[in-house]
Amino acid sequence: MKKKSRRPIVAGNWKMNLLPSQVRPFGEELMALAAGFHRQEAVVCVPFVMLPAALKVFEGSDISVGAQNVSENPRGAFTGEVCADQLRDLGVKYVIIGHSERRTLFDEDDIRINTKVRLALDAGLHVIICVGETAEQRNMDVTFEVIMLQVKSALYGLDGDALKRVVFAYEPVWAIGTGVTATSDQAEEVCSFIRGVVRAKFGARVANGLRILYGGSVTPENADDFFLMPDIDGALIGGASLDPHKFFSILEESENNED
Ligand code: PGA
Repeated sequence: MKKKSRRPIVAGNWKMNLLPSQVRPFGEELMALAAGFHRQEAVVCVPFVMLPAALKVFEGSDISVGAQNVSENPRGAFTGEVCADQLRDLGVKYVIIGHSERRTLFDEDDIRINTKVRLALDAGLHVIICVGETAEQRNMDVTFEVIMLQVKSALYGLDGDALKRVVFAYEPVWAIGTGVTATSDQAEEVCSFIRGVVRAKFGARVANGLRILYGGSVTPENADDFFLMPDIDGALIGGASLDPHKFFSILEESENNED
């Protein structure tokens, strides 16, 4: 078995779950499990109000902290928003941008997502950009058109160097929180397509270094199917990331062998 050259990454997306007081016990449990575990990159993306607690508990460890959203505006009069340089100043490394819940429930379109990506990268953050088709779009056979539009518009205006801090997550909307995953072949087909879109725009070196995750009902039981695929470099986990044991099991699985 040959290992992929890209470092696997497993990111947990807590969404609007758990409480600030639960961050420390979660973090301590996860760190006890993951002690001495450096091969894969682990990221825990928590609600804004839990970021300080998460940064504190994971300080000095290999586990990175991420936010789940960022304002499309720089600092200014935007009551209730949090901007990229505030996240960066706090010590946050990653931010998820364009999650399908934000696209559908909060009307984020590809233009707003591109603005957020650019501001986040300018501030020095790493971004996890989510793309994915709905069930209707898959049935209408426009999956690849949708993915192409989302990927190209998210990356508009960036240069190849900026892509070192970009991770894509392919999350078919119909697989998120439903218990229905894409098959590993379906996921690989789209992840390889995403790499191809990036290759056409930025060249082979950038595309080969790009990490692409699968997300949507990933569990410790099914994670391995995805990690075995050549273009899948890890996972974005919702439900299963709320349990440190499940999250760690998925992290362990992500050694990402290629045979
Ligand atoms: P899920 O969520 O693992 O609960 O399906 C994935 C996500 O929304 O990132």
